[in-house]
Amino acid sequence: MSALLEVANLNKHFGGLHAVKDVSFTVEPGEIVGILGPNGAGKTTLYNLLTGFIAPDPGATVLFEGSSLLGVAPHRIAGRGISRTFQLCRPFIGMSVLENVIVGALGSKRGQGADLDARAQALLGRVGLAGKEGVPVEVLSYGDQRRLEIARALAAKPALLLLDEPFAGLGSGEIADLSALIRQVHTDEGLTVLLIEHKLREFMRLVGRVIALDFGEVIAQGTPEDIVRHPAVIEAYIGRSDPVETEPQHAA
Ligand SMILES: Nc1ncnc2c1ncn2[C@@H]1O[C@H](COP(=O)(O)OP(=O)(O)O)[C@@H](O)[C@H]1O
Ligand SMILES: [Mg+2]
Repeated sequence: MSALLEVANLNKHFGGLHAVKDVSFTVEPGEIVGILGPNGAGKTTLYNLLTGFIAPDPGATVLFEGSSLLGVAPHRIAGRGISRTFQLCRPFIGMSVLENVIVGALGSKRGQGADLDARAQALLGRVGLAGKEGVPVEVLSYGDQRRLEIARALAAKPALLLLDEPFAGLGSGEIADLSALIRQVHTDEGLTVLLIEHKLREFMRLVGRVIALDFGEVIAQGTPEDIVRHPAVIEAYIGRSDPVETEPQHAA
């Protein structure tokens, strides 16, 4: 009843491809929930549906704080308190690092207000980009772009943060740092987080609950411990005896 996010009967067809199949789940305030699944399982499509980038097939329910998000434009969904990062970073080219964070803040009423500059600077410090405020985004390293994505998403002061493979392409030190940052904003700001990730070892440490997808369908939900032992999950990661150790891929 008090779920932050409630999703039911969510479907998406791309032509003949049933990319998201009857997905239903809820997220409670303050949870960190992981979305697990091999490439092509429908994870990014799920985010695109939740954030209004694409429309689901008829019959779905998507409630955020009790109100429907169906038919609501992406910028309005952001304004209601859902921020996301993209699997491939999408900085605003031609702007500085600081300007990118400010634009992120302006994208939502919640993020606007006095001291925008100071708040953006503080966020950059928090994600480890202090001193790079004036740098054009296009010269940032890949790891720094990932940090900027998170600062930009946080600038909007979201209630729900959707992270799409935030550790992709990062080294183990950077992953540990970013993971600590996610944990910290979760604790400090009571932020609810939905996390898609393929770096399973870190993922399993970070999340309290996992929703496992395969071919668009929820095949299991539970604690990380339950999920790594779940026969359907093991089956989805064909040929891997220990799914926690490996990078998931569907055998083509
Ligand atoms: N806009 C689109 N048009 C057609 N097919 C798409 C589109 N977006 C995703 N797909 C397909 O939907 C399936 C799920 O994709 P995606 O959600 O990106 O998977 P994941 O993020 O789990 O790797 C894939 O088969 C993908 O090719
Ligand atoms: Mg994806």
